[in-house]
Amino acid sequence: MDVILFGPPGAGKGTQASAASMAAGIPHVSTGDIFRHHLRNGTELGEKVRRYMNAGELVPDEVVVEVVASRLEEDDATGGVLFDGFPRTVNQARLLRAWLKDHGRDVDVVVNLVVPDAVVEARLSGRRSCLACGATFHVQHSPPGPDGACTKCDSKVVQREDDKAETVRNRIDTYHSQTAPVLAWARDGIRVVDVDANQPIRLVREAVLAALR
Ligand code: AP5
Repeated sequence: MDVILFGPPGAGKGTQASAASMAAGIPHVSTGDIFRHHLRNGTELGEKVRRYMNAGELVPDEVVVEVVASRLEEDDATGGVLFDGFPRTVNQARLLRAWLKDHGRDVDVVVNLVVPDAVVEARLSGRRSCLACGATFHVQHSPPGPDGACTKCDSKVVQREDDKAETVRNRIDTYHSQTAPVLAWARDGIRVVDVDANQPIRLVREAVLAALR
C-alpha cells in the first residue's frame, strides 16, 4: 500500500505518521526528516539543502527525487510506503506515480490533513522538536518533559530553525503556491480523503486510520 500523508506545514503529518505507518504496516518516509538527518551530520547533501530549508523554500526537485528514489530501493520499502512531506510539487507527484507504476504499484490513497493557516502558524511557533529521535511536542498542546527533555529519549528538545515566525510565513506561502496544486492533480484519478486536522490529535488519528482501512 502506498499512501501520501498530505497537508500544509504544521498540519500534523509527523504527529500522525507513526500510528498510520504501523497500522498500514509500511515504513514512514519523511523527506524533511531525511534532510534534517543530513543537516545534523554535516553531509554534502545536508550542505546542499541547508539554505532552502532555513529559508522555508523547497529543495530543488532533482535533489528530492534522487533522495526518494534511493530510499524506495531499500528492502523495507518494496511493499509500500507512507510518504510524509513528499510529493510537494506536481512534478514530484508525476515522477513518483511514474516510478510506482513502473514497479507495479500506485498511490492507493492521499490523506489530506486540512487546517487553516492561522492554526498552522500557532502550531509551528509553539512546536518543539527532538533532534535525536524526531519526536515533536507543542508548548501548550503536548509539552515536553521537565527541563524541556524529550519524553521518549530524554534528549533536549529545541525549536527548529525553520519554525521561527518569519520563516513559517514563507513556508505557508510556498505551500499554497507550489504544493497545494498537487491536491488538484491527485483528485483527478487518485482516491483523496480529506481529514479535518483542526481537532484533538486523537480524533485526527482515528480519522486517518479510518481513511487507510
Ligand atoms: P518538513 O519536515 O516536511 O516540514 P513540513 O511539511 O513543513 O511539515 P512539518 O514537519 O513542519 O509539519 P507536520 O505536518 O509534520 O506537523 P507536526 O506533526 O510536526 O519539511 C521541512 C523542509 O524540508 C521544507 O520546508 C523544505 O525546505 C524541505 N523539504 C522537505 N520535503 C521536501 C520536498 N518533497 N520537496 C522540496 N523540499 C522539501 O505538528 C506541528 C505541531 O502541531 C507540533 O507541535 C504538534 O505537536 C502540533 N499538533 C499536531 N497535531 C495537532 C492537533 N491535532 N492539535 C494540536 N496540536 C497539534
